[in-house]
Parts: sequence; structure tokens; C-alpha cells
Amino acid sequence: MLRQLWMLRIVVACSLIAITTFTLVWRLSHGAERSNEPQRSLEHHALLGRQREFWRQIYHDLTESRPNCSKIVHDGGLDVVGVQEAPPPRPMKVLLEDQQHHALKTAHAAFTGRLQARPYDLPYVPATRGIVMTAGGSYLMHALVSVRMIRRTGTNMPIEVFLRDPSEGDSRICEDIFPSLNAKCIALSSTLGDDISNIGKYGYKMISMLLSSFEDFLYLDADCFPIHNPETLFEQPPFTTHGLVLWPDFWYPTESPFFFDIANIGMPPMDHSQVASEAGTILYSKRTHSTALLIATYYNFYGPDFYYKLHSQGALGEGDKETFRWSAVTSNTSWYQVKAHVQHLGFTTQSGERRDSVMAQYNPMTDFKATTPSALARIRPFFMHQHNPKLDPGWMFALDNTSTIFDSNGSMRRIWHENVTEAQNYFGNGFDAEMGMWEEMRDMTCEYDKLFHKEACEVGVEYVKRVFGG
Ligand SMILES: *[C@@H]1O[C@H](CO)[C@@H](O)[C@H](O)[C@H]1NC(C)=O
Ligand SMILES: *[C@@H]1O[C@H](CO)[C@@H](O)[C@H](O)[C@H]1NC(C)=O
Ligand SMILES: *[C@@H]1O[C@H](CO)[C@@H](O)[C@H](O)[C@H]1NC(C)=O
Ligand SMILES: *[C@@H]1O[C@H](CO)[C@@H](O)[C@H](O)[C@H]1NC(C)=O
Ligand SMILES: *[C@@H]1O[C@H](CO)[C@@H](O)[C@H](O)[C@H]1NC(C)=O
Repeated sequence: MLRQLWMLRIVVACSLIAITTFTLVWRLSHGAERSNEPQRSLEHHALLGRQREFWRQIYHDLTESRPNCSKIVHDGGLDVVGVQEAPPPRPMKVLLEDQQHHALKTAHAAFTGRLQARPYDLPYVPATRGIVMTAGGSYLMHALVSVRMIRRTGTNMPIEVFLRDPSEGDSRICEDIFPSLNAKCIALSSTLGDDISNIGKYGYKMISMLLSSFEDFLYLDADCFPIHNPETLFEQPPFTTHGLVLWPDFWYPTESPFFFDIANIGMPPMDHSQVASEAGTILYSKRTHSTALLIATYYNFYGPDFYYKLHSQGALGEGDKETFRWSAVTSNTSWYQVKAHVQHLGFTTQSGERRDSVMAQYNPMTDFKATTPSALARIRPFFMHQHNPKLDPGWMFALDNTSTIFDSNGSMRRIWHENVTEAQNYFGNGFDAEMGMWEEMRDMTCEYDKLFHKEACEVGVEYVKRVFGG
């Protein structure tokens, strides 16, 4: 009897200890989380306040530095020259009247003068890193594919996906799926208010970068994604040494000589060291490049009327692509552009048609160290810019067999290379990055069944099994 009583006491005591410990641990973990929430939302709230104030100032300085002249017109179509060929002479397609030239130069000097007179404190949360994207409308789907591909590399870095305004969001993606992937939709209009209507869609990318909460960020076009974990990029040169990393386009630079005079910077020679930028992928440090970012904002704000034309003179892809490099030069800050040439990947159909679909951009860390042609040739790809077609799993896995996963003879096939041997040799170490992309697209159609037509998952499963054996 006495013994039983002791046993009972021990059991009760143990249970009490267990319950207390459990409650304590639970309280610690959940309580800590909960007490962080107001902290985080306060920080976010404070940041939004700082961003609005910042926007008010920069918008004022931008509009006050408007070039007082008619916009530049060119008849388009500057022929680009690929970097494999001999360098061409500097193109002179855009012709400015004296009055335009003078007005542009005066306004440029006025803007950089304003930046010196009123140093800006760019709003961001110190010591943070993350990924920034701009999406909206159909681009949100491409961004979702990219977010899944980013997570596949093993990083859990926060991702901020900027949309013009809340109406561009899809509640299934923004409210259900992104939060589960540590990504979130942010409306530019929540900071810009009515000013958003004075920004054309060309400007959203620039403003997304300005308003992202991170100190250091990787910007990705919605159709770009890394195939390796991007965290290491922030910890090694060239990012740690230069604070701005860009990737190349296929051709020689296209800027008008007028631009260099307007920006008051030296005009580089047209030689093999000069390559245009592609700008689907950018690494930026707001700490070291705040002035560069603000000048890039100026070039983008006045891009469609002036600077895009001064930079590209009607060449293919005229847009923001060159604004990031030249703003670094104008602000006397460093930049690094990957030397390894961008490469198109694709295949030749059974009927002999060449189909390129993705631009591969290379690893900047090994690129930075490579000094010999043979070392350069060994650099592996790091980012894929899947632009043709952009990735929409529902369309790719449509039942009508019209998507690009079908060869001209009707057979399903891979689209980046001819075959698995070629793919693995290219990516190195037996890695088949394209297979990873299709597995992710297949899983998306099966997991997010409300986003896609009901057969997409079935077609995806069949495709990955048939072509990749997965
Ligand atoms: C803009 O230019 C026009 C004529 O080119 C001139 O009449 C006007 O005063 C200028 N405005 C400013 C604010 O400089
Ligand atoms: C960059 O350096 C040049 C020459 O030293 C100077 O004239 C210019 O004002 C500087 N630009 C900025 C934005 O600091
Ligand atoms: C589409 O392709 C699949 C796989 O190649 C094939 O089984 C199916 O019959 C095709 N459907 C049509 C409508 O051509
Ligand atoms: C299409 O061509 C490939 C490569 O020659 C071949 O393996 C496949 O069987 C062909 N498909 C059809 C439907 O003929
Ligand atoms: C893979 O494609 C390459 C390039 O077309 C070709 O040379 C090679 O023979 C192919 N290999 C196999 C295993 O089919």
C-alpha cells in the first residue's frame, strides 16, 4: 500500500515536471515568436514611413531636374554587333539638337548637384539580405516558378515580389502560397500613392529595388532564377569588393557619344573589354551604392524619353539595361560585370529549326578569379533567364500539345540541350538543371491544383517520367 502510494507520488511528480517543462518550452518558443511579431510589424511600419518620406523627397528632386526639351526620337533599329565579332565603331544613331543636348546636360548636373546638397538616407533594414523581384499580371506566375526554383537551391532568404498595386496580385499566390515560401507581395502603390500613375511600367523594376527592405539584395527579373544557392554570392568577391555585380548581354555597347558628355564621364573605347549589360540579374549593396541607385532612378525616370535612347539608340532590348552600370560610373562607385559571355541554350528540332529558349549567366565568383582563357572557359552557369517562352506550367503542360516541350515530330523532349549527356557536361558534376526545373513545374501543377487546369499535373508527371525518367 505504502509502496503503491510512493509510486503514485513519483508518477504524479514526473508528470508535473513533464507538463511544466513542456509548457515552458512551448511558451519560450511561441512566446518568443509572438513577442517578435509586434517588433517586426513596428519595424515594417517604421520602414514604410521612412520609405514614404524618402519617396516624397526623391520624387521632388526627380521632377525638379526634368530636362527642359523635347524628347529624343530615333528611327529605331540600331544593328547590334555580337561580342564574338570584331568591335564596331561607336554607333551614332541618336542625333541631338544643341538645345536638347544643353538641356539634358544642365538637368543631369542639377540632379547630381541635388544629391550632393541633400545626402539621402536610403530606407532599408540594416544588415539584411534578400531577393527582389518585380512581377504583376501574368508575370506573377513566372515569379512563382522562380521562387520555387530559388527554394530548390536550399536558401530560405526572404523574397520581396513587387507589384504595381494590390489589383495585380492573385490572392492564391500572394496570400496562400508565397507566405509558405518566405516570399511576399508588396504593392508599390502603398508607398508611392498617386505618384504611381506618373511612373510607366518601365520604372517599376528600379523603384522595387529602391523600396526593398534589404541592405544587400539580388534582383531577379520574374523569369530569372539561380540554379545554385545564391547566398554565397553575398560573401565573396566580386560582390564584397564591388557592391554592384552585373551580367553581360550578347553584344558590344550601344551608347551614344552624347551620353558621356551629358553625364560628364569618360567615353570608353569600343574594344573587346566592353560588353553591353543584360540586367535580368543584379547584385546590389544599398550601403555602398546609394548614390548610384539614385542616379539609376534618374536614368529610369527619364528613360523612355531620354536615357534609354541615349544608351541603346534603338538596339534590341532598349530599356533599363545599361542604367545600372552608368549610374555607378557617374557616381564614382565600383561595379563588376561578369566576363564569361552569356549563352543561349536550346536545341534543333527534327525539322531543322533552331529553338533557343534560355539565357545562361555565369558564376561571378569563379569569373572574378579567372584570368586566363582556359580558366574562363571552365566557369559554370549560375542563373537561367528563361525568356522564350516564359514559364507557365499550365501552358507548358497543356493538352493540345502546342507548347515547346514538343519537338516538331510531336515527341516530348528537353528544351535546353539535345540530350542528357550534353546537359550534364554543361552544368558539371552530373547535374541536370533542366530536369530540376521540370520537376518543380510538375510539383507545382500537382500541389497548387486550383491554379492550373485539371490535367496539367497528369501531363507534367507524364512528361518528367518520359523525358527525364523521374
Ligand atoms: C525651357 O526652355 C524654353 C525654351 O527652350 C524656355 O523658354 C524656358 O524658359 C525654359 N524653362 C526653364 C524652366 O528653364
Ligand atoms: C565623381 O568624381 C568627379 C571627379 O572627381 C566629380 O566631378 C563628380 O562630382 C563626382 N560625382 C559624384 C556623384 O560624386
Ligand atoms: C500529345 O502528346 C502525347 C505524348 O507525346 C500523346 O500521347 C498524345 O496523343 C498527344 N495528344 C495530341 C492531341 O496530339
Ligand atoms: C521524333 O524524333 C525522335 C528523334 O529522332 C525520335 O526518338 C522519336 O521517336 C520521334 N517521334 C515520333 C513521334 O516520331
Ligand atoms: C547528344 O547530343 C550531342 C549534340 O547533338 C551529340 O553529339 C551526341 O552524340 C548526343 N549523345 C547522345 C548520347 O545521344
